[in-house]
Amino acid sequence: MSVFSEKYGPWALVTGAAMGLGAEFARQLAARRLNLLLLDINAEVLTEVSKSVSKEFNVGIRPIVVDLAQPDFLRNVSSDLDEQIGLLVNIVGGSAIGHFLDLPLERHLSMLAVNVRAPLILAHHFGGLMRARKRGGIIFVSSISALSGTSDFSEYSATKAYDLVLGEALWQELRPCGVDVLTMIVDAADTPGWRTENPNPEAKTWPPVMSAADTVRETLEALGKTPSFVPGAQHQSRVE
Ligand SMILES: NC(=O)c1ccc[n+]([C@@H]2O[C@H](COP(=O)([O-])OP(=O)(O)OC[C@H]3O[C@@H](n4cnc5c(N)ncnc54)[C@H](OP(=O)(O)O)[C@@H]3O)[C@@H](O)[C@H]2O)c1
Repeated sequence: MSVFSEKYGPWALVTGAAMGLGAEFARQLAARRLNLLLLDINAEVLTEVSKSVSKEFNVGIRPIVVDLAQPDFLRNVSSDLDEQIGLLVNIVGGSAIGHFLDLPLERHLSMLAVNVRAPLILAHHFGGLMRARKRGGIIFVSSISALSGTSDFSEYSATKAYDLVLGEALWQELRPCGVDVLTMIVDAADTPGWRTENPNPEAKTWPPVMSAADTVRETLEALGKTPSFVPGAQHQSRVE
């Protein structure tokens, strides 16, 4: 057993695990010998990812198809594995581009549920169990747009500011209890979600978009060392 799996094992729960950063966390955590509870709304792709990670790394995988916007989603997630979740990776997040008043209120409320309510509920439930065991870790995902209000992303950036502030506060509160909390502040990572918002692959961005693999690798290396973190040296320079 590695130091990582002793501290954060034997199971990790990853939300948004069918694609993008969540799927990459699943792969890299399996490579670190953690078993995986994988949550996503997309049943078909979640099944594919679960099969491929299980085949490649031979770890325990339990996929759960769940809509994290639903008020009672925790009932579908909570199970006999609760006490064994040593790492919670809160990745799922929705975004909507457009003027605040031009987007339907329902869209705003759904984003609030997925980006704010769901990670809050999961951190409260699993964080409590980790504190009782005196070990574990929680990862939140924020965005560089959380660092100041961003027009056309008004509510998205506000929800990501919530994730950042909650994560940094929990880093301080849970550290003495043996639980590491880290908030990753992502600038641009190459995922299906990023490509939907940046459809022209030829367009040059600065700093260049990072691979999902490097984004996740750097985040896992930072876990336990700092309250929040911007993956990618060139991306860090945007906030200095
Ligand atoms: N990629 C970036 O550059 C970037 C930058 C800043 C912050 N972030 C943050 O990083 C996180 C992951 O981003 P990503 O680009 O990896 O996303 P992604 O490629 O869009 O993947 C997100 C996954 O979550 C699933 N999902 C969406 N709504 C859900 C719900 N209500 N319940 C359960 N699963 C749901 C999606 O399923 P469907 O596709 O079927 O909806 C998809 O499988 C997000 O919180 C995002 O805000 C990303």
